[in-house]
Amino acid sequence: MRFLQLAASLSLLVRSGQAIDLVIGNDDSVKSAASTIAFGLAKYYTGNNTGDTPGNLPDPYFWWEAGAMFGALIDYWALTGDESYNAITKQAIIHQATEKGDFMPRNQTRTLGNDDQGFWGMAAMSAAENKFPNPPDDQPQWLAMAQSLFNQYVSRWDEASCSGGLRWQIFTFNNGYNYKNSISNGCFFNIAARLARYTGNETYATWASKIWNWQEAIGLISDDHHVHDGVHIDLDDNTCKTVDVNEWSYNSGIFLHGAAVMYNFTNGSSTWKTRVDEMLTAATTVFFNDTIMFEQLCEPTGFCNNDQRSFKGYLTRWLAATSQMAPHTFDKIRPLLVADAAAAAKACTGTADPPVFKGHPGTACGFRWTTGGWDGKAGVGEQMNALSAIMYTLVDKVAPPVTADTGGTSKGDVDAKWHEEEVPREITPGDRIAAGFATTAVVFGLVAGCAFVMI
Ligand SMILES: *[C@@H]1O[C@H](CO)[C@@H](O)[C@H](O)[C@H]1NC(C)=O
Ligand SMILES: *[C@@H]1O[C@H](CO)[C@@H](O)[C@H](O)[C@H]1NC(C)=O
Ligand SMILES: *[C@@H]1O[C@H](CO)[C@@H](O)[C@H](O)[C@H]1NC(C)=O
Ligand SMILES: *[C@@H]1O[C@H](CO)[C@@H](O)[C@H](O)[C@H]1NC(C)=O
Ligand SMILES: *[C@@H]1O[C@H](CO)[C@@H](O)[C@H](O)[C@H]1NC(C)=O
Ligand SMILES: *[C@@H]1O[C@H](CO)[C@@H](O)[C@H](O)[C@H]1NC(C)=O
Repeated sequence: MRFLQLAASLSLLVRSGQAIDLVIGNDDSVKSAASTIAFGLAKYYTGNNTGDTPGNLPDPYFWWEAGAMFGALIDYWALTGDESYNAITKQAIIHQATEKGDFMPRNQTRTLGNDDQGFWGMAAMSAAENKFPNPPDDQPQWLAMAQSLFNQYVSRWDEASCSGGLRWQIFTFNNGYNYKNSISNGCFFNIAARLARYTGNETYATWASKIWNWQEAIGLISDDHHVHDGVHIDLDDNTCKTVDVNEWSYNSGIFLHGAAVMYNFTNGSSTWKTRVDEMLTAATTVFFNDTIMFEQLCEPTGFCNNDQRSFKGYLTRWLAATSQMAPHTFDKIRPLLVADAAAAAKACTGTADPPVFKGHPGTACGFRWTTGGWDGKAGVGEQMNALSAIMYTLVDKVAPPVTADTGGTSKGDVDAKWHEEEVPREITPGDRIAAGFATTAVVFGLVAGCAFVMI
């Protein structure tokens, strides 16, 4: 924090006026801007250095955010054709999926929530849908990885408390085991819907509907299609009464996109159309100030933590994907993508010095898109958000995601297993430290919420 403030004040002195040139509508300009920002993003990654572990980002980034980053880099390649990061992406996903293809790396037990796994699983799903080069034949394949995760989620669906839903955490020893949150169930929903569309297997679609219905019944999706953060399990009677009604952009985005996939899979069912349309209205009402996206719960007060500073990128990703799956939403979504791309480009004029930012000087991306300049922040989230804002303006220039019937080549395994039994179930109290990302999200959400009220 201290360092960033110093970097921020220095930048005022040395700002060179270098900025990202961006002419939206000119594909070469968009690709060039995206390439500059992607370069800065990949520079945060150390997992391909000698002695480091493929797939891991350095502190302070949790494991899940690396999965999110490689998902963004797959889309970057699909949208621009730039293969620069395909090798690190392929190596990272294969390594973290482990030899079982289940995204259950033992090293990550203490940060391994259902949502943390989900961001890696969605990256694998994107790889299948975009015909990203397949892993070697003797390794688990993209589609099978997503199916393994789906099978794990099914096995963890918990009717014993709150009549269903996934818990946030997989392991009892991680903080958050007694919380059922929208992002975990959103990962399940999103992957189920996409597997239904990719494979044509109705079982996945049945699950997607079941997850959606549970979210509504428990109050995590409201009548007007706002998405609340999660619900606490009441340990006296195993019911769920206390809903955390905080709204985060990625929760809306993940359900919006999944609903759009279901709309598409059902050839335009009116039920899913209503859900898509109302969810889009809710998301654009809450997370946009006029046409510029903002993380409304923490951005105005400056209290967003590392995780939260990446959420806008995912809402951007899922808005773009929604416009593909439900083309009638394109005219509503397109102007938002365009406005955000322009605003984000203006925020990428930072001169944050190494070691924070190692991309091209003067192109570090800040967090806020509403200020017309760089806000002094720099990091993986900020960089990934801006990359998303700019590259997804190309979404109507590329073919929509494939399915098994329309050119998909990834091999699946409906019975794909996982090795939960090998992961330690008991660990010492000293190991009971911060669970993955949403722990801090919840804690910070409360802090930010209070500060918001007080101010
Ligand atoms: C890691 O990957 C980046 C991006 O592809 C590349 O520029 C760099 O040379 C790689 N580093 C090593 C040590 O292989
Ligand atoms: C787990 O950690 C060890 C030691 O750092 C490393 O060699 C290995 O690659 C890691 N495994 C995964 C899946 O990250
Ligand atoms: C959607 O349309 C396709 C092609 O006409 C058809 O094969 C499929 O069964 C339809 N799906 C549903 C859920 O109606
Ligand atoms: C489903 O998505 C495809 C690909 O974008 C699109 O052509 C088709 O019109 C969509 N179906 C519906 C019902 O909107
Ligand atoms: C939206 O932006 C305007 C102009 O910058 C600002 O005055 C207003 O407070 C913002 N609204 C919210 C909800 O942040
Ligand atoms: C459809 O998916 C379910 C759930 O994984 C699986 O049990 C079933 O065998 C699949 N059906 C086909 C025809 O692949």
